Amino acid sequence: MEKVNVGVIGLGRLGMVHADHLVSLISDANVLAVCALDQSQLDYAKENFGVNTYQNYKEMIDKEDIDAVVIVAPTGFHPEMTKYALDAGKHVFCEKPLGLDMQEVKEMAEHIKAHPDKVFQLGFMRRFDESYRHAKELVDNKQIGDIIYIRAYGIDPITGMESFTKFATDNDSGGIFVDMCIHDIDLIRWYTEMDPVQTWSLGNNIAAPQLKEIGEFETGVATLKFDNGMVATLIGGRHAAHGNQVEMEIMGSHGWIRIAQEPEKDFVTLFTDAGVVRPSMQSFSERFEQAFITELKDFISNVKANRQSDISVEDGVKALQIAKACKESAETGEIVNIVLD
Ligand SMILES: NC(=O)c1ccc[n+]([C@@H]2O[C@H](COP(=O)([O-])OP(=O)(O)OC[C@H]3O[C@@H](n4cnc5c(N)ncnc54)[C@H](O)[C@@H]3O)[C@@H](O)[C@H]2O)c1
Repeated sequence: MEKVNVGVIGLGRLGMVHADHLVSLISDANVLAVCALDQSQLDYAKENFGVNTYQNYKEMIDKEDIDAVVIVAPTGFHPEMTKYALDAGKHVFCEKPLGLDMQEVKEMAEHIKAHPDKVFQLGFMRRFDESYRHAKELVDNKQIGDIIYIRAYGIDPITGMESFTKFATDNDSGGIFVDMCIHDIDLIRWYTEMDPVQTWSLGNNIAAPQLKEIGEFETGVATLKFDNGMVATLIGGRHAAHGNQVEMEIMGSHGWIRIAQEPEKDFVTLFTDAGVVRPSMQSFSERFEQAFITELKDFISNVKANRQSDISVEDGVKALQIAKACKESAETGEIVNIVLD
């Protein structure tokens, strides 16, 4: 296979970024078609990417000569779209999380396992970020000894509140733990190679009371306990006044690793009567641009080599089960035992 013919489903906050990367930066990918409900997004894609457009994903999959689909539609659609694409003989890249309903996700996982000849890759892109990868090497080489504790922050800028509120009003996002903290849950599993057994989680809407009306916590905090006594705490939120704040600290018996930076946009410093200001990154797509490109390059090369991704569907199922346990704990106020399949 010289080039991988691709169809993209979803052209919203992230889908347009993925489509643009596939068209402009990934030479082994050939985007033939895109699908979205929003006509203005389709018009933009037709004009800028020169692709065929659809409002019905089944029609796109049935009609177009594509090898793979990249699913960036709202989370609740991931299981049905993945199953349809696999049944049609397509390879699938699917954004995180796998889905919202656990039963649907388990059926999706069975479906994926029943199609071992098709590549399935899940969009845990932080595993492709150079800093997180470097940290993984250090952890695996025992540079910090045994992990004692992990702290993770994932806070979106408040400038994204309007688009998030629209997303969560139009669709079920899954809530802060399933939609946002799942990235850190996956990383914690990746670094520790262990699963937590218990969580006590909390949430609040102090910074965005309006999110309560749509059943969302703006801020979610989870404590995860592991069988060997190791502990992780993570906070997810959407309220950062200054920009996109994502960081992690891994404390070990012989040292620590911190994966963090002030979220500065670039090397510009502004000197005015307001003081000395470093403008900050305002979106996840800026912070993780390199990771988003690398993960799609990885997917395309996996398809070409007919090789399964390092991120397994079990990783997606377990991360979702853990995130759902955090959600249950925050909603009930109870400590929740985490039971994984
Ligand atoms: N990896 C990350 O960091 C990251 C970041 C943002 C979003 N995401 C994930 O990407 C997915 C999309 O999120 P978003 O913020 O881009 O959403 P969005 O609401 O901005 O865009 C959704 C897109 O899907 C289309 N769509 C909706 N229903 C559809 C259907 N039935 N058939 C075809 N197209 C349909 C919409 O028209 C729109 O183009 C979600 O699962 C989200 O969790 C991941």
